[in-house]
Amino acid sequence: MLDLYAVIGNPVSHSKSPAIHSAFALQTNQTMEYTTLLAPIDGFKAAVENFRQQGGRGLNVTVPFKLEAYQLSTRLTERARIAQAVNTLKFEGNEISGDNTDGAGLVRDIESNLLIPIAAKRVLLLGAGGAARGVILPLLQKEPALLAIANRTINKAEILQEQFIPYGKIVAGDFRQFSEEKFDIIINATSASLHNELPDLPPHIFTHAELAYDMMYNQEALTPFLKFAQQHGARQLADGIGMLVEQAAESFFVWRNVKPLTKPVIAMLKSTNKI
Ligand code: ATR
Repeated sequence: MLDLYAVIGNPVSHSKSPAIHSAFALQTNQTMEYTTLLAPIDGFKAAVENFRQQGGRGLNVTVPFKLEAYQLSTRLTERARIAQAVNTLKFEGNEISGDNTDGAGLVRDIESNLLIPIAAKRVLLLGAGGAARGVILPLLQKEPALLAIANRTINKAEILQEQFIPYGKIVAGDFRQFSEEKFDIIINATSASLHNELPDLPPHIFTHAELAYDMMYNQEALTPFLKFAQQHGARQLADGIGMLVEQAAESFFVWRNVKPLTKPVIAMLKSTNKI
């Protein structure tokens, strides 16, 4: 029987993960199958159990189940424990191992693909939801000069600051608070782009930015965040396609102990972009 993997979510039919993992499997000669698994909103645990019983070896977990996957894990990596979210499950005997490869994927895309080192840079992270939480530790581990977390609802950013103070130099505020400051790297981890919205950002923050990075992507047009960043002086723009492929490569390594090449897969996905 083929080793079976899937991405579980709701909705999930739009997911690019099957195309990405199939490309990795082909490239590394791994005999495996990777599909999508739509779980009912209130039926995550049962869907995972059912998948395991059918011999499933691992799952990627996407919206809205990352917290439930964290709670279901019987073993957690440090990065998943601190993110309080799991995007990669691995099944071995009775163990359910939970990992979070999102932050590693973002950092790898910025440093290895976009060739921008994070160390000693001033980094602004927009948003304080699950997507932001998942990338804070890997960003701090790269030792930026400062990581500022800005959120529309300020107290959510302050809660994250308190949690992550032991791991590096981190400050919190709302969008206005940082309007006079200079940042090298500005990352959008809000869900605004999903709804084609733009967070209410002061335009000056982009004047010195060498990179504006949107963790979301839109293959039809620049996201509103990237369009705004471009208009206000950001020198380089990137959407979340690279992060998506890099986090997938990390998950593939967790399951198969093989590191696939990511650049050809990023190029394959970008070739269908209309931008
Ligand atoms: P996710 O898990 O994708 O991060 P979430 O936990 O619902 O989703 O968090 C969404 C984040 O996007 C929050 O930081 C939210 O800001 P608030 O905490 O103030 O709600 C942010 N967000 C969503 N839409 C936004 C918008 N139009 N402008 C600014 N921030 C927005």
